[in-house]
Amino acid sequence: MHLIKWLSGAAVGTALLLAGSPSWAVTIGFSQVGDEGDWRPAFSKDMQDEAKKEGIDLKFADAQGKEEEQLKAVRAFIAQKVDAILIAPVVTTGWDQVLDEAKKAGIPVFLADRDVDVKDKSLYVTRISADFNLEGRVAGAWLAQASVGQCNIVEEQGTVGSAPAIERKKGFEAITANFPDMKIVKSQSGDFTTDGGKKVMEAFIKSTDNLKGICASFAHNDNMQLGAMQAMKEAGLKPGHDVLMVSVDYVPAMKEALAAGDANASVELRSAIGKYIYPVMLQYLKDKKDLPKWVKIPSELHRAATAGN
Ligand code: AHR
Repeated sequence: MHLIKWLSGAAVGTALLLAGSPSWAVTIGFSQVGDEGDWRPAFSKDMQDEAKKEGIDLKFADAQGKEEEQLKAVRAFIAQKVDAILIAPVVTTGWDQVLDEAKKAGIPVFLADRDVDVKDKSLYVTRISADFNLEGRVAGAWLAQASVGQCNIVEEQGTVGSAPAIERKKGFEAITANFPDMKIVKSQSGDFTTDGGKKVMEAFIKSTDNLKGICASFAHNDNMQLGAMQAMKEAGLKPGHDVLMVSVDYVPAMKEALAAGDANASVELRSAIGKYIYPVMLQYLKDKKDLPKWVKIPSELHRAATAGN
């Protein structure tokens, strides 16, 4: 097993410490979902930049949205005897066996961003991520006040079976359940992509006679909302005016849409999160102390009036 390669000589260690470099070399295998939307590539870049800063040898594998690619990547990392494996899982299910293989090989597994649904929680050390359910609740609470609790909503869901799609929906509905006149009347997956969001909104526009009686669009991410906005504009509708637009991520294009009044609110999902993830992993590799099963990263609401803040 290729564990942390501690430097043996005290003098070398001291010199490295004085130079501000880490005193050991660590290899981490990172299985990333893919590059859908604007948020994911920003997250990948941050992970690569932060790895360089930390002196980590990062083996990056892009799964192109396919769980089977992630399973292959994780098995390749096990064969390469990396020090730790980090996974941003496409979907929550199907992980028990491969995580068990990593455990048997003595390689600790960490989750970034998305969650897994495994019977044995000891198969991974911890998940470092934002609270998707909270993001859904924040979006729902914003809409409840903006619509005074009276709203027919169309929903663009993220990738079916993914943690953010499951949790954001649950969180949002936990709020709307308190308002008898707030309900999701149409819901479809746009797979977290701009194209997907556009197609879903085109279908909603058709099936509701140009969004007649629809008060809001809740999209599980900004890219789907940006696509939905295009579809609405092509149909002669004004997003942000005719229909309230609330979504999650707060990517640069959404900041512009909020500033232009084409959208109303976005819950920020931070993408520069390597600075939260790597220190947790490195500390664990150093001392092997148990960690809570979830290390949370905060999320913030941005409204049209605060766009750019
Ligand atoms: O897992 C987080 C979600 O995945 C982001 O909200 C979305 O943009 C991405 O595809």
